[in-house]
Amino acid sequence: MLLNLVEISSIASIKETVGGILSLISNPAAISSDLIRLIELDPPLTAKILRVANSSNYATAQTIDDIQQALIWIGFDTLKEIVLTQKMSEIYHNGTPVFGYSRLQLWRHNLAVALLAKTIYRHEFGEKGNKAYAAGLMHDIGVIVEDQLLHKDFIQMLQSLKDTPQSLSDGEVSLFGYDHGLVGKSLAENWNFPAELIDGIGFHHNPGGAREEYRLFVKTIFISDYLMLEQGYGYVAMPLPDREILQQYVMDLGLQWHALHAIVELVLEELKKDERKGYLTA
Ligand SMILES: [Fe+2]
Ligand SMILES: [Fe+2]
Repeated sequence: MLLNLVEISSIASIKETVGGILSLISNPAAISSDLIRLIELDPPLTAKILRVANSSNYATAQTIDDIQQALIWIGFDTLKEIVLTQKMSEIYHNGTPVFGYSRLQLWRHNLAVALLAKTIYRHEFGEKGNKAYAAGLMHDIGVIVEDQLLHKDFIQMLQSLKDTPQSLSDGEVSLFGYDHGLVGKSLAENWNFPAELIDGIGFHHNPGGAREEYRLFVKTIFISDYLMLEQGYGYVAMPLPDREILQQYVMDLGLQWHALHAIVELVLEELKKDERKGYLTA
């Protein structure tokens, strides 16, 4: 059904690079030459990375004009993050805002959730957070699939959310019979994403459905999603889930509220900086 259409849509164009990056993220021992080869096949991506490497954040006396050099300056983790972000941004282009929804807002939402999930992992669990960043960036990929491939029905669904305030998932289920979590999960399985990511995407509104070993990871995505929606990084007007659920997940992860608030502040600052630099435009 829907996923057959993905193969002929612009979404399919990111499959190879995104798949390559994800396997590098889940296998940190993989050699960086694989990544460099992947990047060099993509001139707009190469240009973007060189632009970042030559930006004031990484100011050097010399001009960086190849990916190998860029890697030395910005580091492997940042490089992976830029590649994933740039490739994912490609599917959020165009589109006209309708009923408060726009692809740009959806893109900003995904970036905000990615940044928060990664920062929670770094601060609270001492991990680099590459996987959390990837899951945050892709958790709502099902929405853009619906928007691109079922556009008319998608608009009708947005209209129904406007008429009857309800969660996006409820609106989708009553109209399509499934929600964006399930669409994203099917895409992630179809593209052979790592299992942790499949669950992160598929169960971000319902972490209880995830495999036991990934449940805390998925709860991090839920928490990041919730807090960023609360901070105005949403993409469609809808009521937030019961706050008690959020509180329960925060407790399950052993997070302290004051630490979490401080992390959110840090991320909001970071997002404002990105906004000023024009990074939040798809
Ligand atoms: Fe979602
Ligand atoms: Fe979301």
